[in-house]
Amino acid sequence: MEDIFEKANGTLEEIKIAIAANAEEAEQFRIKYLGSKGVLKELFGFMGKLPNEQKKEYGQLMNTLKSTAEQKLEEFKSAFENSSNVPKHDLDLTAPGYQYPLGTRHPLAIVRNKMIEIFSHVGFQVAEGPEIEDDWHNFTALNLPEDHPARDMQDTFFLTDDKKWLLRTHTSSVQIRVMQNQKPPMKYIFPGRVFRNETITARAHCTFHQVEGLYIDENVSFADLKQTMFYFAQEMFGRNVEVRFRPSFFPFTEPSAEMDISCFVCGGSGCPVCKHSGWVEIGGCGMVDPAVLENCNIDAKKYSGYAFGMGIERITMLKYQINDLRLFFQNDIRFLKQFESAV
Ligand code: PHE
Repeated sequence: MEDIFEKANGTLEEIKIAIAANAEEAEQFRIKYLGSKGVLKELFGFMGKLPNEQKKEYGQLMNTLKSTAEQKLEEFKSAFENSSNVPKHDLDLTAPGYQYPLGTRHPLAIVRNKMIEIFSHVGFQVAEGPEIEDDWHNFTALNLPEDHPARDMQDTFFLTDDKKWLLRTHTSSVQIRVMQNQKPPMKYIFPGRVFRNETITARAHCTFHQVEGLYIDENVSFADLKQTMFYFAQEMFGRNVEVRFRPSFFPFTEPSAEMDISCFVCGGSGCPVCKHSGWVEIGGCGMVDPAVLENCNIDAKKYSGYAFGMGIERITMLKYQINDLRLFFQNDIRFLKQFESAV
């Protein structure tokens, strides 16, 4: 029966040196030693197994154990009573939660996402490029050599005196990056922000967004481009919309065209949105100039392709009949909130 005494004495030593760092540990101490299934209870249980002559001594040891444990627990309790470790029970779990006001998606983001969705349905993937570009990607590779008059059409923000680095003036620079790094066939759209040194008015801004498209493969024709644009216009503006292409000029496409859609507001009969012409312009496009393909080491005899570029602000203004471009950048919540249901 010696081992029972040993065990009890061992427990006494344990209790004497026990420490608790917080209220939780104090509670663990209580459960371990004084709980209904605790160590002391177990040790008390051995009493019956002892021969009578040892019972008195064991009983005294048990009393010492119990009082020592209780005293220790009191010490712990008083130490933690007023400290922050004591769990506070003033938490009302039935109280309603705070309502955090949810923001709304920016109209430009709504339209950009819609454009990505529409083009993804006909096999376009999304790629992005840097907003800070070098001259070669933004101009030279796109058939706009130095001193080309068309460079003046795009009032450029240059970043270095040697004019080597600039803020991209269009997303066409991403065409070049993709064509350099991939092999045809390739079918991509490039959404992104562009910059032009223009006076800020209701119709122009120094920063705006474009979605560029590029499809390069064998035997790609202008008919493919027209069909893709027609599909896009109908998905974006409705089934009754028609498209028209007007001959135009871009150094990097040949032939080039401006795309118009029939005015979806008045159906073509004339209204303020289409300035009574029945048509509104949505972007530029054309067949990628063979010189541009060659600049990117793509065999222009084997491959052809089309490219298009549209302004997201322009599409958004048409779609929601917004008449001032500056509204997009003012972050006025009264303006932004109106697109809540459009998400
Ligand atoms: N990069 C042209 C612009 O910003 C748009 C465009 C893209 C035209 C692709 C033709 C082909 O005006």
